[in-house]
Amino acid sequence: MKKHLLKLLDLSQEEILEILNLADQMKYELKNGIKHRVLKGKTLAMIFSKSSTRTRVSFETGMYQLGGQALFLSHNDLQIGRGEPVEDTARVLSRYVDGIMIRTFEQKEVEDLAKFGIIPVINGLTDFEHPCQILADLMTVREYHSALEGLKVAWIGDGNNVCNSMIVGALKCGMKMSVAVPKGYEPHADILAFAKDYAGAFSLVNDPAEAADGADVLATDVWASMGQEEEAKKRIRDFAGFQINGKLMSLAHEKAIVLHCLPAHREEEITAEVFEKHAGPIFDEAENRLHAQKAVMALLMGQK
Ligand code: CP
Ligand code: NVA
Repeated sequence: MKKHLLKLLDLSQEEILEILNLADQMKYELKNGIKHRVLKGKTLAMIFSKSSTRTRVSFETGMYQLGGQALFLSHNDLQIGRGEPVEDTARVLSRYVDGIMIRTFEQKEVEDLAKFGIIPVINGLTDFEHPCQILADLMTVREYHSALEGLKVAWIGDGNNVCNSMIVGALKCGMKMSVAVPKGYEPHADILAFAKDYAGAFSLVNDPAEAADGADVLATDVWASMGQEEEAKKRIRDFAGFQINGKLMSLAHEKAIVLHCLPAHREEEITAEVFEKHAGPIFDEAENRLHAQKAVMALLMGQK
């Protein structure tokens, strides 16, 4: 296992599967009352420059369940919010805590924390990637479809951070991935460059029906991500037709599941009807954030 989880692009298939297998084991053991205290006495600093429900609560609870504790640090309350350089923050936190989870805008901030600190850094979402989300998503797909290899994932909507990580996670795990976005909303160029090596397994299209055709997993996310609030109205116009609805679902495999990282905007990227019909996997996906991240923390911060 690498020292950090900065982006899924950094991980090999073996490392992704190692996390998923440990996450499955930890979920099973938690449900059977078996306690892991592999992070006893350890502290995770959690820096948030954006809002969060799932990421904050699952990391904080996960740390507690592993015998450690987590510190919630809002960007605005830290000196970083007043201009203290990331390299100094990284070196200071390295003297106090055992790991850092950060949710921020620029991927570079996450990479810099890792570069200047001496403790593991975990990306809790940037504008570029949301690796913890996709580890939970892959875990959920395995629970519903037993395996990953050969399944088709359809992404409908914005080529955003979650989409970027989904492309990397799916392709590295042997899945096929078809991404349907309106023109101008394509995934990041670095992700498309990565996907080029998977020519037969990856397609980028502008027609949601083409992506959904025969899909085993359909996934979407909000049309305007955090930091894009001012574009929300324009995006509602631009994303018309890029909705997971009953008609689109009829093109997918009959056993297809729907994933949504949440929060969801009903009647925008997904209809309320489809959302409720697939609430089982969607909320399992939310739960699996806890198990997947516990596995990540145990591997990065536990005794070697
Ligand atoms: N999916 C996700 O990361 O949710 P939060 O923004 O609530 O953390
Ligand atoms: N793409 C969304 C994901 C939220 C979990 C955002 O960045 O706001």
